[in-house]
Amino acid sequence: METIVSGMRPTGNLHLGNYFGALKNFIKLQEQHNCFFFIADYHSLTTHPNPKDLHRNVRTILAQYLACGLDPTKATIYIQSEVPETTELYMFLNMNAYLGELERVTSFKDKVRQSPDNVNAGLLTYPSLMAADILLHKATHVPVGKDQEQHLEMTRTFASRFNRMYEVDYFPEPKAYNFGAQLVKVPGLDGSGKMGKSEAEGNAIFLVDEESLIRKKIMRAKTDAGPKEPNEVKSQEIENIFALMRLVSADDTVTFFENKYNDCSIRYGDMKKQLAEDMVLFCSPIRSKILEIEKDDEYLRKIVNEGSEKARASAQKTIKEVREIIGFKPF
Ligand code: ADP
Ligand code: TRP
Repeated sequence: METIVSGMRPTGNLHLGNYFGALKNFIKLQEQHNCFFFIADYHSLTTHPNPKDLHRNVRTILAQYLACGLDPTKATIYIQSEVPETTELYMFLNMNAYLGELERVTSFKDKVRQSPDNVNAGLLTYPSLMAADILLHKATHVPVGKDQEQHLEMTRTFASRFNRMYEVDYFPEPKAYNFGAQLVKVPGLDGSGKMGKSEAEGNAIFLVDEESLIRKKIMRAKTDAGPKEPNEVKSQEIENIFALMRLVSADDTVTFFENKYNDCSIRYGDMKKQLAEDMVLFCSPIRSKILEIEKDDEYLRKIVNEGSEKARASAQKTIKEVREIIGFKPF
């Protein structure tokens, strides 16, 4: 059994890309492994969220995680700020994190370019906070997308540096979880790249979207002028629609439209209508669950309290051992 840690910043509603790209795999992992899933609210402070919004954002993403099937009886689900041991490990790691290596991190360089007025120390040390999240539970695997690979490489650097410095074999060097053939990139509805919450309006389908909104977004998805000859290679826009259909529709529905495309009799309007209905069937039960869970303060409180308690037990063990290794001793 492996120890697995993953987190998500509370920055908006979950969309289909988050679900099929990340969450679905987490849900499978929780069946077999020692899994920790947390909401990275400390991380979100780098962009200075309004105190009025912070709690609501955390609550929203927690309800959505749970509605998708993350199970508190199988995984430890917690809020990062409820496990303050995170910050102590973050501080220890920062003592051996060097300016040069932190400044070379791509996500930091991007942020400097995008928001030159907000280059704070939290942004610079984002990788050591993320390493603290992971090393706190001595995780061996971290299921993250490609954009997080460099952060994970830093975690390995910090772990091996700690081990070398104190001549111990304490922290494992965590690997990215490899989903192999299951790695998916969910396309957006605007015909171009991936589905994402910061892309153009209407590009993403959010799991909380109302049925009518889902239908509207899909009917507006970009298409092309239609195939001119049998078995033509599909344009990006059309490939995207097929890719979405493969995620939520039955195999024979996909085959039906593949055949229609290949013999040039396809009507994109019909295909999108079918996709919209299948998408609604997929999203509606999740949406109902989100609404139900969001109302249930008692349930959310219970999950957060139990999850944080379990996470703290694991964190306190690590911090106690780390303090001993570093040389702190009680008087
Ligand atoms: P967003 O791109 O909407 O801002 P995040 O960067 O918060 O999403 O990503 C959260 C998780 O969801 C990451 O593990 C990321 O790899 C995954 N993810 C996001 N969008 C997609 C997508 N279109 N296809 C597959 N996985 C995705
Ligand atoms: N940096 C991750 C992201 O932006 C979120 C995150 C924070 C994380 N700490 C983590 C992911 C630890 C995995 C493990 O998506």
